[in-house]
Amino acid sequence: MIGVFDSGIGGLSVLAAIARSQPQAELIYLADTAHVPYGNKSDDAIRQRVLAIGSHLRAAGCTTLVAACNTATAAAVQALRQSQPEITVVGIEPGVKPAASSSRSGSIAVLATESTARSARLQQLIAHHASPLGVAVRIVPCPGWATHVETLQLDDSALAAEVTATLAPLLDEGVDRIVLGCTHYTFLLPLLQPLVAGRAELVEVADAVAREVARRSLPTTTASPSPPPGRIHLQATARAQRLEAALEALGLSELQPRLAGPAQLVQV
Ligand code: DGL
Repeated sequence: MIGVFDSGIGGLSVLAAIARSQPQAELIYLADTAHVPYGNKSDDAIRQRVLAIGSHLRAAGCTTLVAACNTATAAAVQALRQSQPEITVVGIEPGVKPAASSSRSGSIAVLATESTARSARLQQLIAHHASPLGVAVRIVPCPGWATHVETLQLDDSALAAEVTATLAPLLDEGVDRIVLGCTHYTFLLPLLQPLVAGRAELVEVADAVAREVARRSLPTTTASPSPPPGRIHLQATARAQRLEAALEALGLSELQPRLAGPAQLVQV
């Protein structure tokens, strides 16, 4: 069983990529909606949540854990690996590497939560993958964006104005790759895409994470020549029913036939 978690609904984009790449895998998705957003919390607070979620998912039978949250990965993936040494842990990190290696202008930007934006891990990614290529990286904290997505206010005019005001100067500076460094931002693609069209490409790494999970998790064994699809168990620490509603609103209805049942409220 593979356990995928995020502060809320952002990681559903990663869940969908894993579900597509491993149709037979049994999956749990845990949204820590009682504590969303993570992006404005301290590293210690994020670590506490991630370790508690790790124990919960392990007790539920997961042998692979996927932190489908850049903020949780930067602040706590090391601690999670140390606390669950016998389990495979895969995190998600801003796609600085693909963005830097494909940039033609030598100028890229990373949109992220405040926590990821100030993280040492992001600085390491830049030092390893952008600086050696001479690529300049603008780190852009985007407070409040994840909360807009979480509350499904995707076509809110105030958000649209803020997003436009954030991207315009980056594009004017010649940035040609914009990394979505928070899984919630994937659901802003319909807003972001027209703003950057012809000037920059948006970079997100859900499919790359799904490939990494497939490579590192235990194969699903079955005797049947046409095995049934693996089920998806949805769990949330608050407002569980909103998780199912989010699937449709976020264009992920493809996951609905695989749901094991209604989303469960869990105490973690
Ligand atoms: N979806 C998360 C990320 O990838 C965090 C959003 C939040 O809770 O602030 O960073």
